[in-house]
Amino acid sequence: MKKINIKAPSRNYDVYIGNNVIKRYASQINSLAGNNDSIIIVDTNVYRLHKDKIESLVKSLNGDAIVYKFKADEKNKSLDSLKKIFDLMLRKNLGRSSFLIAIGGGITGDLGGFAASVYARGIGYIHIPTTLLAMVDSAIGGKTGINYGHTKNIIGAFYQPESVLIDTEFIKTLPREELLCGLGEVIKYGLLIGDDFFDYVSKNYHKAFDYNAAFLNKAITESVSFKGSAVEKDEKEKTGLRKILNLGHTFAHAIEVEQNHKIKHGQAVIAGIACALHLSNKLGLMNDKYLEKYLSLIVEFGNEIKLSKYNPETLYKIMFRDKKNKKGSINFVLLEKAGKLIIDAEADKRDVLYAINNGLQYFGV
Ligand SMILES: NC(=O)c1ccc[n+]([C@@H]2O[C@H](COP(=O)([O-])OP(=O)(O)OC[C@H]3O[C@@H](n4cnc5c(N)ncnc54)[C@H](O)[C@@H]3O)[C@@H](O)[C@H]2O)c1
Repeated sequence: MKKINIKAPSRNYDVYIGNNVIKRYASQINSLAGNNDSIIIVDTNVYRLHKDKIESLVKSLNGDAIVYKFKADEKNKSLDSLKKIFDLMLRKNLGRSSFLIAIGGGITGDLGGFAASVYARGIGYIHIPTTLLAMVDSAIGGKTGINYGHTKNIIGAFYQPESVLIDTEFIKTLPREELLCGLGEVIKYGLLIGDDFFDYVSKNYHKAFDYNAAFLNKAITESVSFKGSAVEKDEKEKTGLRKILNLGHTFAHAIEVEQNHKIKHGQAVIAGIACALHLSNKLGLMNDKYLEKYLSLIVEFGNEIKLSKYNPETLYKIMFRDKKNKKGSINFVLLEKAGKLIIDAEADKRDVLYAINNGLQYFGV
């Protein structure tokens, strides 16, 4: 069992990692929630697969708890779901001292966290992430929000939880595709942290598909520690230090939009990292030896990530629309080698198209 403390400027909180953490930390949950009433927002899939665990959590709470189940898809990460949650909370007379617990992947965490940030001007909440992606990334750092119109995560808030409970037992019911998405973020942390951790991930990543506890615990612990320290230094992405977490993400977001969200976020991150590696090499930041080394892990996922026919010009236009700087070029997080990052590296259109064409060649069309 591991405990990692995150000293974000707005809140100091603990992240617990281990098997059956929810049961073992029932008293901590109660000390945070007090005797107050709670709302538990849970993904219907997770509720179905882990009903006993969730019901015993509900029973162990001192106060009354209402359970709101919802289908976790991007369509429901919406104002409409938020309204349903607020209506229910009001009907149950939940006030300023009430508590929210979000149990699910990144969609549930983003929606639940945002509901907590604005209800009664902000109530306490706990994240219980249930996907590998949420455990290594989205549950940490306090970015909450919903989609609006056609724009992802456009309405939201930075709002830190009171605690994050990473109960690795949830991983056992994750399908391969979701494990792969989580591994996409773990590979990102490998490149952010340094060659030792990257090499460990390269050698052992396949163990995730066998639900190997030692690999998963190490992957989660390293990723959470790294993200936590970036959040401590730059909670609201003001100084640029938190920006490194966006490695591969400028490409990834454009890929998600261009592919009409038919590709999952974690898969797009893997493809986006391949593009960022090629761009780093094209701009002379990364030598051929490192490019080859890092790509040798990425290509292992080539057959599992299927892009439908894509248009590099459209991808470029999406990035330009979303990310162009005042001078009219796009800024990227790039790499010299694992652990040596370059923030705000500028690239012109020709180099970006080169990176797209080379980076996406590994993924089946
Ligand atoms: N806030 C942040 O910092 C941040 C960072 C990265 C991504 N995100 C957001 O996270 C979302 C993606 O998160 P995600 O990949 O966790 O997706 P998700 O919440 O959609 O979950 C993916 C799928 O896995 C299922 N699932 C969840 N837990 C399960 C379990 N234990 N067993 C079986 N199935 C389970 C869900 O029902 C869903 O079908 C996106 O909306 C993205 O914008 C947020």
